[in-house]
Amino acid sequence: MKDARALTGASLLEWRRQQLLRGGRAVDFDWLLDLSGGISWSSLQRLRIDPGRTVHPNCSLGVLEDQWNQHIEKTIPLQHIVGLCPWRDVELEVSPAALIPRQETELLLDLAVERMERTPVKRWADLGTGSGALAVVLSREWSEAEGHAVDSSSAALSLAGRNLKRCVPLHHCRLHRGSWWEPLRAWWGQFDLVLSNPPYIPSGQIAGLHPVVRDHEPHLALAGGEDGLDAIRRVLADAASALSPGGQLLLEHHHDQSAAVLELMEKAGLVQREAVPDLQGVLRFAIGCRPGVESA
Ligand SMILES: C[S@@+](CC[C@H](N)C(=O)[O-])C[C@H]1O[C@@H](n2cnc3c(N)ncnc32)[C@H](O)[C@@H]1O
Repeated sequence: MKDARALTGASLLEWRRQQLLRGGRAVDFDWLLDLSGGISWSSLQRLRIDPGRTVHPNCSLGVLEDQWNQHIEKTIPLQHIVGLCPWRDVELEVSPAALIPRQETELLLDLAVERMERTPVKRWADLGTGSGALAVVLSREWSEAEGHAVDSSSAALSLAGRNLKRCVPLHHCRLHRGSWWEPLRAWWGQFDLVLSNPPYIPSGQIAGLHPVVRDHEPHLALAGGEDGLDAIRRVLADAASALSPGGQLLLEHHHDQSAAVLELMEKAGLVQREAVPDLQGVLRFAIGCRPGVESA
């Protein structure tokens, strides 16, 4: 049967050029072409070398044009339009209910794996789980451990639940609605590993964010109060009680909060504090742990 969507590489490349003349970034257009059209970046490179090749997109060019229009005209994130976001080695469902997981947050997991290399993890928590991105990867990495994912938004928790089911069918992660450590009181003193990417944007900076973020990501996932540190203060306030002796807390924070977060960690009684840069060299993560039995 004839494939109505088949076209030559040359036609596809010319169509792509026309779309980009209307606005937007090539990197985003190619992301859409891959996720929605099923044409990967490497296939595009092959078509450039051999434009006579036939290509078969997953959907019509009209559908892709419509999706691109929504992105450039209404600044809707492409991830919301497609409903998916590849993150580490998983493909997560995304929606306006929760922050689109960011690439830098992937590093938080690498740091956790590094820190826990020689330490068993019986119980972990993800505070402010959003889409469940961290909880999904923690569930895969420590598949025998008991996991707890907390969020104050029930819409975010439903999304996290779907992502856990989709990516880790046999997971041991419980979902809790509430504020930070509060719903986990029954397990205080028993968390060996806790990750959190809390909201940390100072109130005065929200209006200046790019519209794709400001107008489409949940305010609850962004707003960190006047200095951006409200949520981090709350998380640190109970950290030494909730972590197990020697338990590790890994936080993501804004690009200029490293010194302040380390100071808050010190006040909270956490030891072995460390500031860690992201791939751009910006100090973006803070790690600390509850003193172990021998140093208590
Ligand atoms: C920056 S987003 C991070 C989402 C996800 N962990 C990630 O890294 O992509 C922060 C999350 O914290 C949640 N949150 C805000 N206030 C909270 C609170 N008081 N208690 C628990 N979660 C909260 C928001 O709903 C949001 O899902």
